[in-house]
Amino acid sequence: MSPAYHDDALVASLLDYTGVRCVLEEAFADLALGAAGIFPRTRSDCGDVKLSAMGAIWPAKGVAGAKVYPTVEGQFSFLINLFDLKRCEPLAILQANEVTRLRTAAIVNLVALRVVPKTARKLAVIGAGVQGKSIAEALLQNFKFSQVCFVDPAVKAVALEQWSRCLPVQPILCSAEEAVRGADMVVTASRSKVPVFDGSWLKPGAFVAAVGVSLPNGRELDDLTLARAGRVIVEWKPQSLAEAGEIVLGKASGALESGKIIDLPDLYRGQRHWRAAPSEIVVFKSVGVGLADVATAWLAVQRMAARSPEVQEIRA
Ligand SMILES: NC(=O)c1ccc[n+]([C@@H]2O[C@H](COP(=O)([O-])OP(=O)(O)OC[C@H]3O[C@@H](n4cnc5c(N)ncnc54)[C@H](O)[C@@H]3O)[C@@H](O)[C@H]2O)c1
Repeated sequence: MSPAYHDDALVASLLDYTGVRCVLEEAFADLALGAAGIFPRTRSDCGDVKLSAMGAIWPAKGVAGAKVYPTVEGQFSFLINLFDLKRCEPLAILQANEVTRLRTAAIVNLVALRVVPKTARKLAVIGAGVQGKSIAEALLQNFKFSQVCFVDPAVKAVALEQWSRCLPVQPILCSAEEAVRGADMVVTASRSKVPVFDGSWLKPGAFVAAVGVSLPNGRELDDLTLARAGRVIVEWKPQSLAEAGEIVLGKASGALESGKIIDLPDLYRGQRHWRAAPSEIVVFKSVGVGLADVATAWLAVQRMAARSPEVQEIRA
């Protein structure tokens, strides 16, 4: 049977932030047990164009797959191939811009729900693009923020107002310092390769989620943020330690001690705590890993199968 093709509109209609977060919880718990495997990102360059691939194997769900994407003038276009491991044959092909958007927002939520107290009231988001807005939208489903501050020199207040009409809180545009001072949670989702705020502005106990850079020579967080953080959570050390500029450059400058770096498998195995004390500054540095893509794509295919009986169900 030919693999089904799921375009972004279909994928978006099948997925929700909570469902994706729950499937990521399951996938990373299996990774911690050795019951899932990650194919780390590989990148090739030719001239100004890059081609990248990353993926995962998840035997418990009978699925494996890879996301592949070119980068042309800073823009990405994502595609995922999923394989049915039981039959060892192609299962589905997904246009994966929506998968990427949803799984990134969901993984920030997954960590925030473990680290950020329910009493958190102020959210700062630096970079009001696709990811910054989706992460804010997902967080607002779980936290009662009364103040949401966006920082983005390219975004107009009227556009932010139009986008946010269905949100429970009207976000405001402000400077990075106004946004970060007093924030319980700071999200960075810009395309900046240099720090986007000063670590001295963070209040004790702040949670910082940095998703914007996955190259070792770029960073959104400064050395002071890393030095003040009690722990830096990453998705998966083998990929994150090589790709995250915050980690590579922070270790090189001496601002970040290796012992502070904890990955999701460490946390799901219960070897480390998500947070030591309410006053501890915690950083989550996301680069994006293939297990999140494959788990999210698998969920979309499962939901499609449930929606239309003629689409064969994946049997684990
Ligand atoms: N970690 C992950 O898994 C993951 C997943 C998807 C995207 N990303 C990365 O996240 C970043 C954002 O992606 P996107 O799709 O939202 O891009 P986007 O282009 O839609 O949005 C980026 C926004 O950041 C703003 N910006 C740039 N520099 C800024 C600064 N110094 N201060 C404030 N705002 C600034 C831009 O004006 C733009 O509006 C990209 O670098 C992308 O590679 C990471």
